[in-house]
Amino acid sequence: MALWSKKSITMLLAQAEEKEHSLKRSLTAMNLTLLGIGGIIGAGIFVLTGQAAAQYAGPAIVLSFIISAVGCAFAGLCYAEFAAMIPIAGSAYTYSYATIGEFLAWIIGWDLILEYLFGAATVSVGWSGYITSFLKDVGVTIPAALCNAPFSYDVAAGWGTTGAIINLPAVLIIAAVTALLVVGIQESANFNNLAVFAKVVVVILFIAFGASYVNTANWHPFMPENTGVFGQFGWSGVIRGAGVIFFAYIGFDAVSTAAQEAVNPQRDMPIGILGSLVVCTVLYILVSLVLTGIVSYKELLVPDPIAVGVNAAGQGLFWLRPFIKLGAIAGLSSVILVLLLGQPRIFYSMAMDGLLPKVFSSVHPKFRTPHITTIVTGAVAAVLGGLFPIGALGEMVSIGTLLAFTIVCVSILVLRHTQPDIPRPFKTPAVWFVSIAGAAVCLMQMAFLPLATWLRLFIWMAIGVAIYFFYGRHHSKLNVPAA
Ligand code: ALA
Repeated sequence: MALWSKKSITMLLAQAEEKEHSLKRSLTAMNLTLLGIGGIIGAGIFVLTGQAAAQYAGPAIVLSFIISAVGCAFAGLCYAEFAAMIPIAGSAYTYSYATIGEFLAWIIGWDLILEYLFGAATVSVGWSGYITSFLKDVGVTIPAALCNAPFSYDVAAGWGTTGAIINLPAVLIIAAVTALLVVGIQESANFNNLAVFAKVVVVILFIAFGASYVNTANWHPFMPENTGVFGQFGWSGVIRGAGVIFFAYIGFDAVSTAAQEAVNPQRDMPIGILGSLVVCTVLYILVSLVLTGIVSYKELLVPDPIAVGVNAAGQGLFWLRPFIKLGAIAGLSSVILVLLLGQPRIFYSMAMDGLLPKVFSSVHPKFRTPHITTIVTGAVAAVLGGLFPIGALGEMVSIGTLLAFTIVCVSILVLRHTQPDIPRPFKTPAVWFVSIAGAAVCLMQMAFLPLATWLRLFIWMAIGVAIYFFYGRHHSKLNVPAA
């Protein structure tokens, strides 16, 4: 029975206000929107767009961005309802604790590690690539053995070693961001605001100046004919492209993990989640239109497609090149920051519930941040980022996040029926359609991911289940109330 016990919303809200463990409420609607943009614009647009256009969709990558945005918008509407109703730090973990019960909540919490902790590690590897390339441009060369993963993976050959020792820049950026997060939420938000400003300016400059270099011939054919292989151009390519660039949208949901630090979460959570999603969707569509207009999609299978687009424009855009790299470095830093901010807050909520050791919920007396869990998260992410290749990490992030989005979409419908009377400051419009369509779009994108990724997901989940039965179940505060 205990497996399915649920937390009442009243209990959740009361717990959020407990003084000893309370986080500091200082984030405004603007901070939250910028936090969302901080988490969204990163490796997806700066790296994956070109690869997806070159391999799967051609200029129709614009359609892939629209399809993926529709799925994210449905999930975003459901997140907004939850985050305004239950403004607690745990995001989808907390929502499922209130709706489906403890066991599945634990499973979701465990799954979210794939999105946040693995996500931060993945982006740190991308950051390492950009900083190494920028330093090289200014005459500083980092030895290859110190800026690459020692382990490699590809589908055909499996795991291998590369001869490198460690990806040091990836480790260092995670260490720096972790230190900032321990010092304070406001300090972290200030840094994030700056980084978001830098990356958004660079993206807008690219769109504004790049537009006049568009050669419309590059848009023909807009959707290259399918090669005969499923997923290589044509409509199947557009959908596979959507699954790949889904990574570019991950991060808007991280706004919900800061709910306990929002000044006015009921009003501002929906603004932060949906506002950041809308801004980024518009920017992504414009970037992909301009990029595929400046340069043929066939030339975009590179790690720095936006820089290649700028090069293709010739002398006229030469001045923009260093700014693109700096914008990407700032952009990826803020993604790492937002993901490493989200993970400890989920662990914090799980520890408050007794499903993780109490030490994970301790809050620093002066900084009022969950410092211990922030440091543990940073240390694990640094090890992953320092040792593993970007592909193997990134695929786990996508499947984990899609699973979380699916559960959130379903849960919102469940809660409308089981607890119709709870005050809902924001209500998902057309909830039947939005939640079912949201879950369906996410499941469809999961179905397109490789079998090996599914297998790893099952193994990861099996480890989670074992931890729950050996630890969480016996320590849950809901099942063993404090005397
Ligand atoms: N959306 C984030 C990125 O593209 C995870 O880097």
